Amino acid sequence: MSIVTLVFRKTITRRLQIKKTRAGSQLFSAPSRSIIDMSYSSHFMDFKGSSIPSTMRKLVVTKLSPNFREAVSLQTVPVPTPGDGDLLIRNRFVGINASDINYSAGRYDPSVKPPFAAGFEGIGEVVALGLSASATYAVGQSVAYMGDGAFAEYVVMPDRNALPVPSIEPKYLALLLSGATAYLSLKNLGSLTEGENVLVTAAAGGTGQFAVQLAKRAKCHVIGTCSSEEKAGFLKSIGCDRPINYKTEDVSAVLRKEYPGGVDVVYESVGGSLFEMAVNCLANKGRLIIIGFISGYQSASGLKPIRAEALPAKLLLKSASIRGFFLPHYYSEYASAMKDLLEMCENGDVSCELDTGELSPEGRFLGLDSVFRAVDYMYSGRNLGKVVVELCHPVSSKL
Ligand SMILES: NC(=O)c1ccc[n+]([C@@H]2O[C@H](COP(=O)([O-])OP(=O)(O)OC[C@H]3O[C@@H](n4cnc5c(N)ncnc54)[C@H](OP(=O)(O)O)[C@@H]3O)[C@@H](O)[C@H]2O)c1
Repeated sequence: MSIVTLVFRKTITRRLQIKKTRAGSQLFSAPSRSIIDMSYSSHFMDFKGSSIPSTMRKLVVTKLSPNFREAVSLQTVPVPTPGDGDLLIRNRFVGINASDINYSAGRYDPSVKPPFAAGFEGIGEVVALGLSASATYAVGQSVAYMGDGAFAEYVVMPDRNALPVPSIEPKYLALLLSGATAYLSLKNLGSLTEGENVLVTAAAGGTGQFAVQLAKRAKCHVIGTCSSEEKAGFLKSIGCDRPINYKTEDVSAVLRKEYPGGVDVVYESVGGSLFEMAVNCLANKGRLIIIGFISGYQSASGLKPIRAEALPAKLLLKSASIRGFFLPHYYSEYASAMKDLLEMCENGDVSCELDTGELSPEGRFLGLDSVFRAVDYMYSGRNLGKVVVELCHPVSSKL
């Protein structure tokens, strides 16, 4: 029995029960009034026009490991039912993030034990929703969202986790987590001033591309590290003044020679030796923002060792600072950041480069099973822009 039939049957049964009670107690003739019945409202759902199967596929972490293929399995499960304040979303695109393997390794919340659902973000259409959620959302609406369990064909999300978007285009997905991270970290911790030098590591990736563009908009001089000539060309195209392909150039030597006064702000995502190099190149009063340390994520500890004995002296002598940034700590500012980012994206002031895997050995990332390939692809350093996986839905949707 499909979920629609099930819910429809539940609703009909409920209505018949109400009718019987009313008839029995002569309530039929009573003037109409609203029924305040919370148990009923929590079962109310709008499936208008949707065609929803009874089962779906989703990715579940069954064993803790930073090796995504070892940790995660593809399962067939019932399509979940939204509660009162929830949306049931049919995913069209899901976003791949470097931290998908931190999550599968249980590093986010060590108290959570497998099995748990994988994936942080997606974009799709609302296909059913609870009564409270229907105050703000409607069936057929395009939404992007951040929340656990995104690697699934359908996902139930509290409506507060969702954001209405003009259409189901993956560019909006790129803004959601990657764009917001660059925007909020640079705004809160960067204190960018016109003419300052900003170094972005993993600059051609999902979040790096936004850091480059936002620093340029703040009229800074932007330096970006990357691993190929193609990425360096892309960085030029989005305004990066000095792309450094670390496969062919010595980053440290370039920085020493071309930026003798140092770098004012670093947007640092790689960790390990690149972090050490970034610390060494800080200008007086320089600010290094720790966005991540991807070079360590695949190891058992999740960290790449660094030599930190001299760190206090290095920072003191330059009045420099290092600060960490974690997006969930900035949710109070998230809505206004997204408003700004969406506006910039619509006006063409910020571009969202997407990598859908066209150039990967097995081609475009299509379907949930290709999430595994997409994670491997990112970890081989081949992605240019935000990695997204498209989900195909064989159902004959009317939406
Ligand atoms: N703090 C937060 O709230 C937050 C939010 C979002 C993302 N992040 C962080 O931002 C960073 C980028 O994440 P993303 O999802 O946007 O990924 P991404 O930049 O799209 O992809 C990762 C890129 O990292 C570079 N890289 C350098 N060393 C690497 C290594 N040893 N292994 C694999 N890749 C390496 C590669 O580019 P090159 O080969 O060109 O160097 C690769 O393309 C990560 O550190 C992530 O944890 C943090």
